[in-house]
Amino acid sequence: MTGASGGIGESLAEGLAAGGADLVLVARSADKLDAVASGIHARHGVRVRVLPADLATADGVDEVITALDDTRVDVLIANAGVGWHGTFAEQPEDGIVQQIALNETALVRLTRAFLPGMLARGVGGVMTVASTAAFQPTPHMALYGATKAFVLSFTEALWQETRGQGVRVLALCPGPTATGFFDAAGGGSFLEGGRQSAEEVARVGLRAFSRAGGPTVVSGARNAVLASAHRFVPRGLMTRMSAMVME
Ligand SMILES: NC(=O)c1ccc[n+]([C@@H]2O[C@H](COP(=O)([O-])OP(=O)(O)OC[C@H]3O[C@@H](n4cnc5c(N)ncnc54)[C@H](OP(=O)(O)O)[C@@H]3O)[C@@H](O)[C@H]2O)c1
Repeated sequence: MTGASGGIGESLAEGLAAGGADLVLVARSADKLDAVASGIHARHGVRVRVLPADLATADGVDEVITALDDTRVDVLIANAGVGWHGTFAEQPEDGIVQQIALNETALVRLTRAFLPGMLARGVGGVMTVASTAAFQPTPHMALYGATKAFVLSFTEALWQETRGQGVRVLALCPGPTATGFFDAAGGGSFLEGGRQSAEEVARVGLRAFSRAGGPTVVSGARNAVLASAHRFVPRGLMTRMSAMVME
């Protein structure tokens, strides 16, 4: 489980542990991971291991893969992700590189590391956390939306490739959710009304993940309607409407 030190990842970890799963929690903040791990262990009695690592670096991803060399990983939840709010031309270069490295490269590399074992055993699953931002361009969070469109496309393709082999693949697409995400993105008051809770999003994701079904679940009825708008609204108009919301 990546990005497990808070927000949606922490809630997904809690939900998996409530179902009896042992966990490996990954994020950068060792202290927060320790606190989450001890709380989950106390409440659910499952084994929880923490692996602090910066997944925006190649070394960080290597460390996680190497540390789990002898561990049977049945489920990968690739949840860690960051956004940046503002016009792309003003986005700092290092933030661009980190965002692509975390949202795309780490997710792909971890999937490549653990999916083959799941397929060989004929059991398990990969849940990626995309976003409703994946369904249309997101001016003022241009790169973020593009990384989530990547995650959605990648996950849907894997869903088809792995069908009928005992492995569940799902992209969880939350809409605006009350976590630390917006502070980290630099858009603290952005889309404040009507955010879902992380617990609610995790419940929707885990329910869909536990059932056979399609490659994608959008969290929340209103988000599901908005995420399907791209089917009916011309792309240019959709992009202008998206810009008004994102700004
Ligand atoms: N909140 C929303 O409105 C929303 C909507 C749609 C999709 N999402 C997606 O949901 C996922 C979880 O976000 P959230 O809302 O729960 O945000 P969050 O509360 O900010 O959590 C992000 C998690 O990712 C970890 N992380 C960040 N950078 C990392 C790095 N370089 N290496 C390893 N871990 C890193 C953070 O831990 P550390 O800081 O300790 O590393 C934290 O555990 C993300 O993929 C996000 O894009 C969020």
